[in-house]
Amino acid sequence: MSWTRRHLLTLEELSLAEIEQIHTTATAFKKILGRSVKKVPALRGKTIVNLFLEPSTRTRMAFDMAAKRLSADVISFDAASSSTTKGETLRDTAENIAALGADMIVIRHNCAGSPLYLSKILGIPVINAGDGSHEHPTQGLLDTFTMKEHLGTLKGRRIVILGDILFSRVARSNIHALVKFGADVTLCGPATLVPRPLETLGVKVSHDLRSALADAEVVMLLRIQHERQTATMFPSLGEYTSMFGLNKTRASWLHPKAIIMHPGPINRGVEIDSDLADGDRSVILEQVTNGIAVRMACLYLCAGGSPEAVTPTA
Ligand code: CP
Repeated sequence: MSWTRRHLLTLEELSLAEIEQIHTTATAFKKILGRSVKKVPALRGKTIVNLFLEPSTRTRMAFDMAAKRLSADVISFDAASSSTTKGETLRDTAENIAALGADMIVIRHNCAGSPLYLSKILGIPVINAGDGSHEHPTQGLLDTFTMKEHLGTLKGRRIVILGDILFSRVARSNIHALVKFGADVTLCGPATLVPRPLETLGVKVSHDLRSALADAEVVMLLRIQHERQTATMFPSLGEYTSMFGLNKTRASWLHPKAIIMHPGPINRGVEIDSDLADGDRSVILEQVTNGIAVRMACLYLCAGGSPEAVTPTA
């Protein structure tokens, strides 16, 4: 199957075959990242602009690294010192970046739908690096890639996503991918952050932590996203932690070989205790490392790269 998309906007719209194609391409790039020379000339001569209008550490740096490993020129847009502070619109900013010769834009924005909007007005590929509470497709891709490295197939695997689901673009992208893989997904947290209608996405909803975690093979913790909440969703952070924070006792309810995931940034002592975040079952930093190969695959494929050129034939 050849890759036909110019943009990467959501995991909702990707087929299982497309997600697997990104993973296969990422596997090939991960091998390259393990060599002494970690660079390939695949995007030599191309310029990629990271247009981040919201804070980021992992995603922005991983896209930066990914572009550099593919030999592209990469420019990181500095929102604080840009003309957006003088009232320039997203459309004008993006059109000016394209006029300056960018070949691809990676955008993070607090407004859901902004990557889709740019994809319709610009003549260059657009990659969504997180849009409001909507989607964070490359995070969902790197999370499922990491799960597959540990579990093999995801079909029928018991996966719990715990925390602030309502405001989480990471949860939404993971849900769309995991449901396509046939995983058995449970969303857990307070009812205000994990409302029952989320079941329409093909997952289970539970407000009982013990039964949700029982024998789960993956638990993915999510941060409370205060920046997107417009009302008080629970009495206090202390109460949230006492009801839903992952600690040693609660982690003992998981499957003995379960892995603990978190997209970051972590709020230690709130959604997860430090000894678990840093413990043997945590794959949190593996997720970050895998983010480079997965983003290399996304940039490469959306730039028109051929999967066969990097994927060894069977
Ligand atoms: N996981 C994630 O999106 O982290 P950043 O906000 O640091 O990019």
